[in-house]
Amino acid sequence: MANKNARPPLAKKKSPVVRALLIIGGAIAAVAVLGIVGFTTGTVLEENNAFCTSCHTVPENTYVDRANVVLANVNAPVADLATSHFHVAATKGATTNCISCHRGSSSLGDRAQTLALALKDTVTFISGKADPTIEKPTIAEPVLVNTACIGCHEKTLLTVNGNATHFHNLLSATAALIASGKPLISTSGRGRIRNESGKQSTLTCTDCHSAHMTQNISDPLASKLKLVDKTAAQKACDACHKESNQRSQSIDRLLSGRGGDDDD
Ligand code: HEC
Ligand code: HEC
Ligand code: HEC
Ligand code: HEC
Ligand code: HEC
Repeated sequence: MANKNARPPLAKKKSPVVRALLIIGGAIAAVAVLGIVGFTTGTVLEENNAFCTSCHTVPENTYVDRANVVLANVNAPVADLATSHFHVAATKGATTNCISCHRGSSSLGDRAQTLALALKDTVTFISGKADPTIEKPTIAEPVLVNTACIGCHEKTLLTVNGNATHFHNLLSATAALIASGKPLISTSGRGRIRNESGKQSTLTCTDCHSAHMTQNISDPLASKLKLVDKTAAQKACDACHKESNQRSQSIDRLLSGRGGDDDD
């Protein structure tokens, strides 16, 4: 079972030979990623999760290990949101790779940004200065991951159902989708986004949804939380409520259906 307690032991110092091989491998990989194999199309290497672990070794290979556990056994517990995406892939035939969330959209701009990040990371790798800590709360360039979430989850953002969806509906990502002509999806006739202040929140997906942080799957509301990082999300709820002069509301209360309701 892949969870925090079952984390592999910390990396031992690699021998110079292994290190040299890794550097050569990394350099070849970087060259391949950075052009030869194509700028606009995804590269074969990048699609392969094992490619990521050629540099992201112990303990970061934990992420791929967690994925492999649910790919091999769909009944295995799912510890984090990224793993849940591999679980969906195993049960519903959807395709998820590590890169699915880490390359943004298929736009040229995102492609260039992904490759630039890969180059920078390769240089860091070769210099031996990589920080292998896992479950880091923040990353240097969160834009790509957030763009990826939005690309696959337009439907969730555009679905309007009062309190049950307001924290998605009031995000600037949702406003951008609406501005691009995407229709709102109304449930139970509530087809209007309530936004009295007229402001959109600058909160991003990863303010509430951590992808690799293990979540408490024995939380009584786990099935409703859907691996949301409750501590981080509660802070995000409170920040927006403060901005909108609303009092603080607990996630537990909202998700257990006691969070008040509305009539539009
Ligand atoms: C050539 C070696 C190499 C390969 C291959 C590689 N990475 Fe990295 N990656 C690094 C290094 C070095 C860093 C810098 C962060 C650190 O200190 O560990 C990094 C950082 C990252 C970050 C953090 C970016 C940020 O904004 O802070 C993500 C996410 C990431 N890698 C995902 C991946 C994924 C997914 C793959 C496979 C598609 C992959 N990497 C393949 C070396 C590599
Ligand atoms: C559901 C989308 C998603 C998938 C799938 C995913 N990641 Fe991530 N990844 C993220 C997000 C979001 C972050 C930012 C940190 C966080 O929220 O946990 C991140 C951060 C990272 C980081 C840097 C921070 C850290 O904790 O080390 C690395 C390295 C990384 N991912 C590698 C991988 C690898 C390897 C895979 C494949 C097993 C993978 N990711 C699959 C979304 C994803
Ligand atoms: C390649 C497409 C893709 C990407 C990228 C992606 N998702 Fe998903 N996500 C899915 C699919 C498919 C499901 C399963 C939906 C279903 O079962 O109906 C899912 C499920 C979820 C769930 C429900 C999880 C559960 O256990 O019930 C959440 C929450 C979620 N995604 C958030 C995110 C966030 C946040 C990101 C970005 C870090 C992201 N997704 C990136 C395709 C994607
Ligand atoms: C303020 C916190 C917050 C932010 C910001 C946020 N979410 Fe969520 N999200 C939640 C909560 C709480 C849930 C679980 C309850 C639910 O399903 O509505 C959730 C559930 C989801 C689900 C699962 C829905 C389902 O029916 O299975 C998806 C997909 C999702 N979010 C995508 C996103 C994306 C994409 C973004 C960024 C544009 C985002 N979220 C931003 C709090 C947030
Ligand atoms: C983007 C800003 C924003 C975010 C994020 C947000 N809220 Fe709200 N919330 C509001 C606003 C504005 C209202 C009041 C106006 C309305 O009813 O739509 C509200 C109303 C509510 C209400 C109804 C209160 C009442 O008196 O009936 C509940 C419950 C609630 N929010 C819970 C939450 C929870 C829990 C979260 C985090 C998962 C959250 N909100 C995240 C802006 C936000």
